Amino acid sequence: MNWEHIDECARKWLKEAGVRIRETFEQQLTVQMKSNRKDLVTNVDKETEQFFIERIKETFPEHRVLGEEGFGDDVGALDGVVWIIDPIDGTMNFIHQQRNFAISIGVFHDGIGQLGYIYDVVHDELYYAQKGKGAFLNGRPLPRLQPVEISEAIISLNTTWVIENARIDPSVLAPLVKAVRGTRSYGSAALEMAYVATGRLDAYITMRLSPWDFAGGLVIVEEVGGIVTNVYGEPLQLLGQNSVLVAKPGLHEQIVTKYIRK
Ligand code: IPD
Ligand code: CA
Ligand code: CA
Repeated sequence: MNWEHIDECARKWLKEAGVRIRETFEQQLTVQMKSNRKDLVTNVDKETEQFFIERIKETFPEHRVLGEEGFGDDVGALDGVVWIIDPIDGTMNFIHQQRNFAISIGVFHDGIGQLGYIYDVVHDELYYAQKGKGAFLNGRPLPRLQPVEISEAIISLNTTWVIENARIDPSVLAPLVKAVRGTRSYGSAALEMAYVATGRLDAYITMRLSPWDFAGGLVIVEEVGGIVTNVYGEPLQLLGQNSVLVAKPGLHEQIVTKYIRK
């Protein structure tokens, strides 16, 4: 497999898609609700996914695509090369703020993440990694993550998980919120994973993500020595929904063993 060529194409298409997305800032968006009023999609999400699928299919006809908006293939197993694409991660931010969103792409081969991309379109910041070759931000290598004390950690989590919810007893995460130095919530799982990879955050915790939310981030975070599992420390199901805990080594183990219980 010529990963260098695939990587070159992916980066070129990300930049092109970024230009197109920035151009839409002057235009009227078409916003639709999906499952509920908090689950949104716009014409730009759909057009961006189609943009990638057209190019991938033209250049690599044997590759398959799993895309959030459903324009790709019906992917039931991860054999061969599969691109997992979230055309806009942080759609609510895209609509309300025109920032704090990203394009997220993971390229997998027989279930192993080989390439990961998170493109912060507004800041023109491209986080990317190739398995075994390190992770980069706009060409600058990202250093390996260093351990941090929980009392000095900044973790990112959505307040949904510390009030009554269907997925975790709020009393489980409340002590963790007390123990850390600070909490943040950016509303884009992909950016939050990129921020862990760069050390801006020490951990990110959430109770439900889909494959396209974490596929790109998984490759990038693992390349800098970060750990990505579900909140119970188990491997992620790449084709299903998962809780997700992304953290520096050491901190990851402490969160799982001292704070989270099933
Ligand atoms: C969402 C964002 C958000 C996370 C949600 C995701 P979308 O993705 O990543 O931060 O909390 O679970 O669905 O819908 O904006 O692509
Ligand atoms: Ca998403
Ligand atoms: Ca999305």
